[in-house]
Amino acid sequence: MAKKAKIKETVGIDIGTHSIKLVHLKVLHDGFKLLDYEVRSTIPAGMEYATSNLRPERFAPVLSGMLSSLKINPKKIKHLVSSIGGDDISIKQIKTIFLPDEELESALFFEAKKHLPINGSDMILDYQVLSIEEKTNNMNILLAASTKQKMREHSDILMSTGCVPGIVDVEPLGVANSFIFNTFVEEGVYILLNIGAQRTNMVIYGPNAKFFSRDVPWGGYHFTKDVMTHYEDFTFEKAEEYKLEHGLKKDSKEKEISLLDITEKKTEEELALEIRRSLRFYVKEAGNSDFRKIYIMGGSAKLKGLPEYLEAQLKIPTEIFNPFTNLEMPEKFRDKQDPQLALALGLAMRLG
Ligand SMILES: Nc1ncnc2c1ncn2[C@@H]1O[C@H](COP(=O)(O)OP(=O)(O)OP(=O)(O)O)[C@@H](O)[C@H]1O
Ligand SMILES: [Mg+2]
Repeated sequence: MAKKAKIKETVGIDIGTHSIKLVHLKVLHDGFKLLDYEVRSTIPAGMEYATSNLRPERFAPVLSGMLSSLKINPKKIKHLVSSIGGDDISIKQIKTIFLPDEELESALFFEAKKHLPINGSDMILDYQVLSIEEKTNNMNILLAASTKQKMREHSDILMSTGCVPGIVDVEPLGVANSFIFNTFVEEGVYILLNIGAQRTNMVIYGPNAKFFSRDVPWGGYHFTKDVMTHYEDFTFEKAEEYKLEHGLKKDSKEKEISLLDITEKKTEEELALEIRRSLRFYVKEAGNSDFRKIYIMGGSAKLKGLPEYLEAQLKIPTEIFNPFTNLEMPEKFRDKQDPQLALALGLAMRLG
C-alpha cells in the first residue's frame, strides 16, 4: 500500500456572497498553527447588491489578490479545502441496513435520489458513515449532494486563479467540523449558526445526536436593509456603517413613526422564528431536545446585541463561537480571533 504523504500545510477557502475568507495553517503534531489569513470583501465598499447580480466571475480577481498578498503560490498548495453552499446543496442523515463497501456507493446513490431534492442525473454525491449500530447492524450515514453545475462554477473560480481544486465540502459540514475540531463535547445537542450576508447556515450537531442542517435566507445584508427602512434617508453605505457601529440598537423615537415596522418583521425576528421552527421540527424528527448552547459565527455574528437577542428569544444560552481554540496563534494574531473565519478554519482543519 502506498504511504500517504504527510500533510505539512493546509489552506481553507470560504467563498461567500459578501467576502472571501482564506486561512493558511501549518499542521503540527497535535493541532495547527495559524500562518496567515485574510478576509476580503468582493463588493465595492458601500455598494448595494442583490443576489441576482453576484456573478461568479467577480470572485477570481479578489481571490488572486488575496493569494498574492499572503504570498501563497496557488500552484504550490498541497492541501486545499474549499466549500460550496446555497440552494443546490443538500444534506441528510439516513439509516440503512448494513451494506458492504462494494455495494454501498450504488445503494446510497439510489437512496439519495429518494431523499434529496436534486435531480439524479445532475447529482454529485458524497457520504460519510457516521456509525454502525451494534444491535441491529444498521448504518447511520450522512449524505451530502450537490449539482455538477455548482461544482463546475466553483472549480472555475479556483482554477482561474491557478489553484487546483482539492477537497470540496458542503458548507454545513465545514461549519460542523469547525465546531468539532475546536470544542470537546461528549453529549448534548448544539446549534451552530453561520450568519453570513445573504443567508445563515444552521447546523444541529451533537456527538450522539442526529445531524440536521438547513439554510435560512437571512443575514447581514438584511440587517443593513432594516437600518435603511428605519432611517429612510440612509444610503446602503451609511446604513452599513451604522450597523457596524450600533448593531441592533436603533433610535426608538423614529421607530414609532415608521409604519413599515408594524407590518414587516425585522431580520432578527425572522431569524429567531426560522430557528425556532427548525428546532421544533428537529425535536419531532430526532426525538431529542437536549439543546445546550447556540454558537454563532460568520461576519454577522459580530452584530452588537445579536447573541443577547437570540438567547432571550430562544431561551438557550448563546455565545459567539471561537474557532481558534485548537490553534497555535503567533503574537501578531492573538487579538484577532474573528468568528468570520470559522468556516474557513473548519475547512482547513479537515485533513482527510
Ligand atoms: N462588526 C460587524 N458587525 C455587524 N455585521 C458585520 C460586522 N462585520 C461584518 N459584518 C457583516 O457580515 C457580513 C459578511 O459576513 P460573511 O463573510 O460571513 O458573509 P458571506 O460568507 O460572504 O455571505 P454568505 O455566507 O451569506 O454568502 C456582511 O453582511 C457584513 O456587513
Ligand atoms: Mg458565508
